[in-house]
Amino acid sequence: MKKTVGLFAAAALVMALSACSGGATPAATGGAAGGGAANKPLDKIVVGFAQVGAESGWRTANTKDIQESFKAAGIDLKFSDAQQKQENQISAIRSYIQQGVDYIAFSPVVQTGWDAVLNEAKAAKIPVILTDRAVDSKDTSLYATFLGSDFVLEGKKAGEWVANEYKSASAPVNIVQLEGTTGSAPAIDRAKGFADAIASNTNLKVVASQTGDFTRAGGKQVMEAFLKSQPKIDLVFAQNDDMGLGAIEAIEAAGKVPGKDIKIVTVDAVKDGMQALADGKINFIVECSPLLGKQLIDIVKKLNAGQPVEKRIVTEETTFTQDQAKTALPTRKY
Ligand code: AHR
Repeated sequence: MKKTVGLFAAAALVMALSACSGGATPAATGGAAGGGAANKPLDKIVVGFAQVGAESGWRTANTKDIQESFKAAGIDLKFSDAQQKQENQISAIRSYIQQGVDYIAFSPVVQTGWDAVLNEAKAAKIPVILTDRAVDSKDTSLYATFLGSDFVLEGKKAGEWVANEYKSASAPVNIVQLEGTTGSAPAIDRAKGFADAIASNTNLKVVASQTGDFTRAGGKQVMEAFLKSQPKIDLVFAQNDDMGLGAIEAIEAAGKVPGKDIKIVTVDAVKDGMQALADGKINFIVECSPLLGKQLIDIVKKLNAGQPVEKRIVTEETTFTQDQAKTALPTRKY
């Protein structure tokens, strides 16, 4: 009897310790090779990656970095492009499950609606790695880890720049927001971070906000409509560079000077955005790094070796003023 109680106590201690560590082991996540370390040679590992699409310069850089990192590591990568449709991503994940890949990685186009397919991956004992974007699932055992940016913080940084820029404003400052894909983590979180950061200055008002779907064409189209419907626009918060670049085209076509008549703040810091910032057409950019490939490889290697992986891995990022963009551009990788 004493021995049985002792065994239960030891098991409870192990469970409590693993819950405290914040890490995820293959056993805890549905795990490689049925709960233990697979310890496969790297050239025998197969990873299925379900990408969102090719909607922006950021996404293109992210795809390139992931493909190059897998090639360099000698790990087999199966890649699919969902063309920004959730049903395509779900089909791709189901196909990876059927093929019996070792790991599935994906950047969820929207936050909701993943539980069923993630439960299928769990039942097949294939660990899932979220890259770039989160899912809103309450059951965190459905994925091994989430690697990517803190989007709320990105929105906050953008809002803080705006709040500081207009700290002495005595008249209303009219802001229009170009939102990313509706229902996606970056669109939801950046809007929240931005709104929170400007809330204390009652002169700062978001007078219109609409999705441009993270594309240049979408940003241009929505900005054209805003320029017609809004009598006075002081600043555009574009939730990514591409929509900001589209807004620049619309502003110039309307005979106004981007960066001066209408200020622009964006997120990403891809080369085209940085060039527009250095040229004075954008006023401030919050970086969102697409270079997730090497960290993704590290996660795969750790899971393969049965080592713990942190449940949340946040990407390190900075911000750029116009002068900082001029300095950074010559060596910018993407
Ligand atoms: O999820 C990251 C976002 O998706 C980037 O900011 C945007 O450019 C991309 O389309």
